[in-house]
Amino acid sequence: MVYILNALTIKCLNKGKSIMVRDNNTYFPSSKWLENAHVNSIDKYNEIYEESIKDPDQFWTSVADRIDWYKRWDKVSDVDYNKAKISWYLNGKLNVSYNCIDRHVESGNGDKTAIIWEGNDPSEDKKYTYSELLIRVKKFANVLKSLGVKKGDRVCLYMQMIPELSIAMLACCRIGAVHSVVFGAFSADSLRDRINDSSCKILITQDTGVRGVKNNIPMKENADKALINTPSIDSVVVVKRTGVNIEMVDGRDVWWHEETINASEDCEPVEMDSEDPLFILYTSGSTGKPKGVLHTSGGYLVYASYTHEIIFDYKKNDVYWCTADIGWITGHSYIVYGPMSNGATTIMFEGVPNYPDFGRFWDVVDKHNVNQFYTAPTALRALMKEGNTWVESRNLSSLRILGTVGEPIKEPEWKWYNKIIGKENCPIVDTWWQTETGGILISPLPAATPTKPGSATLPFFGINPVLLSDEGEEIEGNNRQGLLALNTSWPGQMRTIYGDHKRFFDTYFSQFSGYYFTGDGAKRDKDGYYWITGRVDDVLNISGHRIGTAEVEGAIGKANGVAEAAVVGFPHDIKGQGIYAFVTLMTGIDSSEIILKSIISSVAKEIGPHAKPDKVQFAPALPKTRSGKIMRRILRKIAEKDVNSMGDISTLADPSVVESLIKGSIQV
Ligand code: WTA
Repeated sequence: MVYILNALTIKCLNKGKSIMVRDNNTYFPSSKWLENAHVNSIDKYNEIYEESIKDPDQFWTSVADRIDWYKRWDKVSDVDYNKAKISWYLNGKLNVSYNCIDRHVESGNGDKTAIIWEGNDPSEDKKYTYSELLIRVKKFANVLKSLGVKKGDRVCLYMQMIPELSIAMLACCRIGAVHSVVFGAFSADSLRDRINDSSCKILITQDTGVRGVKNNIPMKENADKALINTPSIDSVVVVKRTGVNIEMVDGRDVWWHEETINASEDCEPVEMDSEDPLFILYTSGSTGKPKGVLHTSGGYLVYASYTHEIIFDYKKNDVYWCTADIGWITGHSYIVYGPMSNGATTIMFEGVPNYPDFGRFWDVVDKHNVNQFYTAPTALRALMKEGNTWVESRNLSSLRILGTVGEPIKEPEWKWYNKIIGKENCPIVDTWWQTETGGILISPLPAATPTKPGSATLPFFGINPVLLSDEGEEIEGNNRQGLLALNTSWPGQMRTIYGDHKRFFDTYFSQFSGYYFTGDGAKRDKDGYYWITGRVDDVLNISGHRIGTAEVEGAIGKANGVAEAAVVGFPHDIKGQGIYAFVTLMTGIDSSEIILKSIISSVAKEIGPHAKPDKVQFAPALPKTRSGKIMRRILRKIAEKDVNSMGDISTLADPSVVESLIKGSIQV
């Protein structure tokens, strides 16, 4: 049972300080949980945590032994935040695909299911054992080689959630190619920019995709549009998913099934240095240009593998399901690399939570007897809204651990998750992390940490979060709020922004010397628990997807008749945050349905449908300071309908703009 205690007397240590958890809205892991868990008490957590902070090199040495190395490292870490220089397991040699597949086969687990693929349609599923996966990965790695892909080359993967996506990722790392997965909802323009930024040599895509009621997502057609302007692409490999007729370009495009059928089943994994790049994953920042977050091989794998085992209390026979899309970091670390390095059975789901009905998640849990279920708060909110009948008709008794990621989870959905899905029997791990961090940094451990709805609780082993003031001073003590930063490194940390190390330094290390700045705000409560309050920069979190305001503004600015746009977030029942766009039109142009449509379609074209504004307000002018900077603070207040506390508006060039914005009509 997970239950509430009124007066708490749990003693725990955090950062060497003795604290008491004494909140009356705290949930404790049940005694059933404490027995066999990897970390089975808060004392054990404290003990390991303390060791990990006291002697990080020793700690991360012992953790890295979980991975098979061709050659062990000479030095555990070499980190200088003042130069944005981060290396782990220096001169260690390994291969990630070997660690995720071969070694499980060699140790006699070849018949174990590696991937359960659950299709969009409930009648479609497939299972791949580790032995079968090995053959497929080797064959496809040989196809890549035959297309001229060499160690260090970049390969772009633009696919929906089909098994070939994981196979292609693992084939890339087998031969040392660097994959760059582009989320399947991104538009042709976004795909083009991402391909060009890292000069990808090959693109792998599929004919069309299916997702919910959409049964013809034009993946290849989008790719073709992108490829008009991508000089680095030599070949395109196309997976036949739906069999819909598509154009194939002679001399450039080949079919996956035709190339793999006769490919050799022999392909030795390439020996990679710990610091050789593993993948690039683009994410939004405060400027219009997405950042190619680069992760390397050794440290990333150690971190993804270890956090997956400990935070989800993963055990050998578990069936583990993370509902994320592999197009985001959560899918990379906690569908593919973390679980597979642990030899787990991992589910890959092509569909959506509401197709064919709102019980689909729970059907999949029952069908495959899922033990760990990891999803996003936005999905929970959407499902909670539909009522409990969708859940009550399902069994769900296989569930042991529930997880969330991507955005702050609020108390109502946390409690619903705990009661209705977990039957008050499954600890919830609210995991805070980022594309940049490679793996989870702040999270409860399921059998150790008392949880409070909405708090990501305590740092993982080896992680040292701090709160900073705007001036960069460390805020000591509990019951405090500030900017969330880390003052030490961990193996899963990103190493650079592809092709732009200066931007890497400027974005994360320049504001506060000696710290990695996360871009999030947080508070530390009286018990030392962390509560993430959200982004403090110009990044929005829409249904757990990171979208930069500057990217959306740039896209709106390209619509005909638009003079200027400013975008802010506003609270949204389901998405967590929605997109609110303030738009000024060129002189002589009036707002109209046509302009509104062209704004929406410009965003869909430039970025993708997931970035479309929820609200558009046409405004005669935007609130600007005398130096011409838009005061987003004011726009946020208007978007949040909190117009009585505008604060100081005297620095505006024209304060009367605010009045007209408040009065302004809103078009949805
Ligand atoms: C937010 C996703 C609150 C946060 C893994 C972070 C969260 C951004 C949580 C990273 C959480 C992620 N509670 N907020 N448990 N997890 N976030 O790069 O603002 O897509 O900076 O990585 O999501 O988003 P990203």
